[in-house]
Amino acid sequence: MSIIISIEKLLIAKRRVEPAYRRKAYGEMNGRQGADLTFSVSRRTIPRRFAARRGPRIMQAPVVAVVGATGLVGEILLRILEDRAFPVSELRPMASARSAGSKVAFRGQEWQVLEARADAFAGVDLVFFAATGALSRELAPAAVEAGATVIDKSSTWRLRDGVPLIVPEINADQIPTEPSILACPNCSTIGVVQALAPLHRAATLKSVVITTLQAASGAGRDGVEELRAQHAALLAGEQPALAQVFGAQLADNVIPHCDALEADGYTREESKLLHESRKILGLPALPLTATCVRVPVEVGHSASMLVETERALEIEEARAALAAQPGVRVVDDTAAERYPTPREAAGTDEVLVGRIRKDRHDPRRLWVWQVADNVRKGAATNAVQTAEAWLAARARRHDGEA
Ligand SMILES: NC(=O)c1ccc[n+]([C@@H]2O[C@H](COP(=O)([O-])OP(=O)(O)OC[C@H]3O[C@@H](n4cnc5c(N)ncnc54)[C@H](OP(=O)(O)O)[C@@H]3O)[C@@H](O)[C@H]2O)c1
Repeated sequence: MSIIISIEKLLIAKRRVEPAYRRKAYGEMNGRQGADLTFSVSRRTIPRRFAARRGPRIMQAPVVAVVGATGLVGEILLRILEDRAFPVSELRPMASARSAGSKVAFRGQEWQVLEARADAFAGVDLVFFAATGALSRELAPAAVEAGATVIDKSSTWRLRDGVPLIVPEINADQIPTEPSILACPNCSTIGVVQALAPLHRAATLKSVVITTLQAASGAGRDGVEELRAQHAALLAGEQPALAQVFGAQLADNVIPHCDALEADGYTREESKLLHESRKILGLPALPLTATCVRVPVEVGHSASMLVETERALEIEEARAALAAQPGVRVVDDTAAERYPTPREAAGTDEVLVGRIRKDRHDPRRLWVWQVADNVRKGAATNAVQTAEAWLAARARRHDGEA
């Protein structure tokens, strides 16, 4: 019951109340507050760099727009910009006409939400898109045309040639400084590639088989609300209302179907995992097969992965490789019942890995269990880290020109 009450606080808090309370509500829901972040562009270097006079010119903090600022990812993204002290000279929160005129809180001020339109990006340096794919398709080119860099959370641009698909711990070097579109991967892909990249470096990936267990929040605020309403109905001894967001009742159930079904029997979510992982890892022919399953968890996507490598990896070697990957934490002591769970990952920015064990039938195969907060590292944190890397690249260029 306390979980349901906490989620209710979260959902109310998203729209109405003090930022401190909102942070508390998210922390309560996930059982923890935000964790330390291990990505190498530290939250301290960037503000200092912007505060300091370097050469004859002072580098201006960017004007930042957040499209989808009233949504689940947009709301957490604002909190992460605050927590990481990302430099912002002016904030332009945007959403649909439905929310235009409402307010969002940022750094102790109320900021009026604007309608996201093609003419709203004049003077903006950086735009986070955390709305719909259709809106990104329509407005991201207009934002770039207006001189902004776009960091897009939707699937629209991820597989386009010439659009970098960024997990900063893996490929921040692909971020250009001129105005362009940078795509953020799907929420499951980010955790999966964070685990696969070090294993590939250690022993060369040969094939991967994945089953994901994906939280309701992967479907946005509506997904969380639907699961919460179903749980509340079941607790009251009532039949939940007909599912709208998911294909079936999610409470007290699992649904082996995320996103649209494709002609070959796979789902679009399963295709995203395949093609996005290949692009990020630079392995265009990697055989990767996924089954994506929705589970009745509010926050935290899990994945069971069978990883085949060219060379047999010993468990300790795999643990060491994973532990050395920035943003990954090994939680692997099954005898002591220590392994990654959505409860442990939620509210943090780390990708947790554990249950690392040899396949019983092939020494070149390892089983790895991986969990990450889909709204934070799977979406908002990854976008902010991408912005930090963009800002650092921009500062280096500025220093070179100064
Ligand atoms: N949730 C996750 O775990 C996750 C992970 C990775 C990626 N993503 C992606 O991140 C994006 C946002 O997801 P979410 O979970 O935050 O969804 P959400 O909670 O449903 O929020 C959607 C946001 O988009 C805005 N929006 C919708 N239609 C719009 C329009 N026509 N014009 C302007 N704004 C519009 C909404 O504004 P109103 O308040 O005005 O309706 C709201 O701010 C999606 O592309 C999603 O695929 C989500």
